[in-house]
Amino acid sequence: MENNSYLGIDLSTQQLKAVVVDNQLTVLHEAQVQFDNDLPEFRTHAGVVRKGREVWASPVMWVKALDMLMDRLRISGTQFEKIAAISGTAQQHGSVYWQRGSEKVLESLSPDRFMHEQLSGCFSVKESPVWQDSSTSKQCQQLEAAVGGPLKLAEITGSKAYERFTGPQIAKIFQTKPSAYENTERISVVSSFVCSLFLGHYAPIDYADGSGMNLMDITQKKWSKICLEACAPGLSEKLGEPVPSYTLLGPVSNYFVERFDFSTDCKVVAFTGDNPASLIGMRQTKNDIVVSLGTSDTLILWLEKPHTLPYGHVLCNPLNGEEYMALLCFKNGSLTRERIRDDCAEGSWNLFNELLDSTPRGNFGNMGLYFDAQEIIPFVQGDFRYNKAGDRVSRFSSKEVEVRAAIEGQFIARRAHAEDLGLSVGNEMRILATGGASANQTILQVLADVFNADVYVLDIVNSAVLGAAYQAKHAIVHASGSSFKEMVSHLGHPHLVCQPHRDAASIYDPMLKRYRNIIQAITNDHQKL
Ligand code: XUL
Repeated sequence: MENNSYLGIDLSTQQLKAVVVDNQLTVLHEAQVQFDNDLPEFRTHAGVVRKGREVWASPVMWVKALDMLMDRLRISGTQFEKIAAISGTAQQHGSVYWQRGSEKVLESLSPDRFMHEQLSGCFSVKESPVWQDSSTSKQCQQLEAAVGGPLKLAEITGSKAYERFTGPQIAKIFQTKPSAYENTERISVVSSFVCSLFLGHYAPIDYADGSGMNLMDITQKKWSKICLEACAPGLSEKLGEPVPSYTLLGPVSNYFVERFDFSTDCKVVAFTGDNPASLIGMRQTKNDIVVSLGTSDTLILWLEKPHTLPYGHVLCNPLNGEEYMALLCFKNGSLTRERIRDDCAEGSWNLFNELLDSTPRGNFGNMGLYFDAQEIIPFVQGDFRYNKAGDRVSRFSSKEVEVRAAIEGQFIARRAHAEDLGLSVGNEMRILATGGASANQTILQVLADVFNADVYVLDIVNSAVLGAAYQAKHAIVHASGSSFKEMVSHLGHPHLVCQPHRDAASIYDPMLKRYRNIIQAITNDHQKL
């Protein structure tokens, strides 16, 4: 084992990345291909092509990117013959439609030619819809109606119907391109698509990424008949059976053995979605909550049992076949923080932090909620400011109050909705912060106080691709009866950056109640309009 290395692949929205780690999980090599710059012939912007609400990318572009990535890895000095296992991850929800007869082509690729040349005729739908597509509202309504409403769908699949989810996307392809659908032998999600390229035949969809389709029964871990039938006929044959995320699927294909000198013993492990892979890369445990502070803020929670909620997503856990994870996306993250910084602190984070530090926890009883764009959770837009007496006001008395209101308001919302999913704020809980704003310790201090929990940061830039490399080794370790926890036990601990003040609970517990009442009142008002 000592000499083994592991390859992780990540097909994200804007690029294809690879990381090779050694047996100690230390990074040896990295490589990447940017779709816009490296493959300009596909004319993508930020990795995709947009037309109104439709957003897609070409699967041939993705294959060509893999051809380039492999060559870049070779140039970086990667010793392919030492790679014991490969796993990967990809943007969630997107779908790839393999034309009838394609598996034969995949099984008999010639190692002398690029893969993209040989696979370019294999896709019955030339443009793969991706997660930014929001053109399937009609199909979402149809799916929810067929199963008995949004909550029933959430109970079965972990999410109410979402436009970007694969089931409604497949339904739209069936309705608008019936002959292409008919001519489709297999439908892959983006992760199982890339996995198929390494495996040399169709790879199954793993439970975690399968939970992002509105098609899988997340407790039975099988396709839900009623959901499949509501989307398109004959779907179960086109999807194949889902498998646990850490499944060893088989050896790498002959193409990779011959062309790059991979060992015939190198194993391909099921690929998964980028959010489940981040949970692995962050080495998240039951007591951790991952808070990613980026353009949008994303929370990843570890759940022992699924919860049914009208928002958020419950997915099967990629490390543990019995448990779950939850994903909460908040659209108004960094852009809102930056807007308040520009309005109140002349565009300077230093000044912003000074203002934040100059106000007391609890902000003199003032509370603000800022939703620049239509928020997902809660479904609200606009600025809402309340004074100590609970009256809505149009502005606060000072810039520092506005700054603190924005940050406290964001984190109170994150905590309230995480608690609805079963998060219990307590001594045991740790926050693992990541994303751009996790570099700002003043902001993280508010996070620690609002959640009454220690905040740690991990020195990881791309947790998803690293998670994929970890999963490659984990599948082997798991098959020999050992655990992920043991596998990563030698890695350094995350870095503790903030601890809550003693008075945190007494200040923020009541503010949380107040937040719930405010949101209730705002949504009631909306319904009356
Ligand atoms: C999750 C989602 C995004 C994509 C991005 O539901 O749509 O996070 O996975 O790659």
